[in-house]
Amino acid sequence: MSEIDHRDEATAGRDRPGEAADGSDRPPGPTGLPVVGSTLAASRDGLAFTDRLATYGDLVAYSAFGEEFVAVFDPDVVEEVLVSRSDEFAKGDFETSFGDLVAPEGLAFAEGERWRRQRTALQSAFAPDRIASSADEVVAGTAALVDGWTDGEVVELGDAFADLTLRVLARALFDIDLAAERGAVVREATRAVAAMVDRFGLLAFLPEWVPTPTERRYDRAMADLDALVDELLAERESDPADRDDLLSLLVAAADAEGTGMDRGAVRDQLATFLFAGHETTATALTYACWLLAGNSEVRRRLDAELDAVPGDRDPEFGDLPALDYTEAVAREALRLYPPVYALYREPREPAVLGGYRVPAGTTLQLATYRIQRDDRWWDAPDEFRPGRWTDGAAGATTDDSRPEYAYFPFGAGPRHCIGMRFAMTELRLALATLARRVEFERVTTAVEPSMGLTLDPGPVEVRVRKQGR
Ligand code: HEM
Repeated sequence: MSEIDHRDEATAGRDRPGEAADGSDRPPGPTGLPVVGSTLAASRDGLAFTDRLATYGDLVAYSAFGEEFVAVFDPDVVEEVLVSRSDEFAKGDFETSFGDLVAPEGLAFAEGERWRRQRTALQSAFAPDRIASSADEVVAGTAALVDGWTDGEVVELGDAFADLTLRVLARALFDIDLAAERGAVVREATRAVAAMVDRFGLLAFLPEWVPTPTERRYDRAMADLDALVDELLAERESDPADRDDLLSLLVAAADAEGTGMDRGAVRDQLATFLFAGHETTATALTYACWLLAGNSEVRRRLDAELDAVPGDRDPEFGDLPALDYTEAVAREALRLYPPVYALYREPREPAVLGGYRVPAGTTLQLATYRIQRDDRWWDAPDEFRPGRWTDGAAGATTDDSRPEYAYFPFGAGPRHCIGMRFAMTELRLALATLARRVEFERVTTAVEPSMGLTLDPGPVEVRVRKQGR
């Protein structure tokens, strides 16, 4: 019997919400083993562990990695933490220790006034007209990727799409070419960070560690990334051309008095966007294509839409409002396999949530993956049904009562993903461009996602069948 199955007698009776809601109690949860708590179960298979946690209730306390956690499975509490009471919660030690691995001063990990200034300064790079102008880049990049495949070839989608999304991002947001060696530096940095996460678990980089091959690889990869970032900044500073892309905004913000962005912060910001913007989108595209490959009816509906809308040409930005089903495929893939599978926050002061007491310093784990598959909000939650987004009541159980935050692949509230519109544009256009040219057959017949840097599907191999369209 796993440690989590040993329910504490005192808590096992009040599993579901509402039964102990006077704000004085700790949420129910597994007692775990002495000292290590649930560390073993959590690090062995984090998704299965989270599923088992959900059987205790909507807020579930547990200890792991020497920290106190409360997992949240209630969409209304997600709304409180991310939106209506967001000022009461910080990213916290758990998130910032991860940030320290990559870019501590970047937008994703900054707090308070500093974060607000950065977010305001960078927002214009994601205005709709800027996103529209990156659409051609997505279509051309995707078409070139397919051109490099031969009919019948087996390809690993994760790597192929990571190269694609990195190149598109660099070109669209920074006007730089990250092909060849430069792209390889960023990919290796991403893999080295992922290896750190795999090796030490999401929390275990908190203690001082002894050097291992994984850390040496990480140190080398980060030094190479730093050198590349320096090179890119030097190139930009010596180039007088008038640009209005994200990199120029970063450099300008660093120059402007009072923004608090020094050169180190520009480096972190560049690293943040390179990291946050490519692996996530590549992961989503990988799952979406793998799901499509296993669902002929969905594929047929997608083809019908693409025959009707772009027809015999490539898709373009202006087609997007008419590509409802393509969008539904992307949304549904993000529901089943959210690349960012959980969000973490810490109450600044002791808080009451869902009727339970949550001490300051507790790490709240907002369980995106679990909530987006909860059968209280979703019919046939494990099935890939893009039609639930287009055909009537979007995925509601029997009526329209599905809470808004039963779906939050891009987060919510003031810190929701700044790249959301960019990512959704890229996903839809890449899917449409791919589907017009190729069909995929599954070689990897089952994916077993795990909690990596993103929701890691492992290698996903498919056989390419060219469409001749
Ligand atoms: C399918 C693709 C993507 C997914 C699923 C995704 C998901 C998320 C989520 C869930 C958050 C919120 C994190 C939190 O609240 O703790 C976030 C934040 C962020 N994302 Fe994305 N993202 C994607 C693509 C992108 C892209 C393309 C970019 C950049 C071009 C980007 C840049 C960022 C940044 C900078 C933040 C931090 C924002 C802040 O704290 O103000 N993301 N993303």
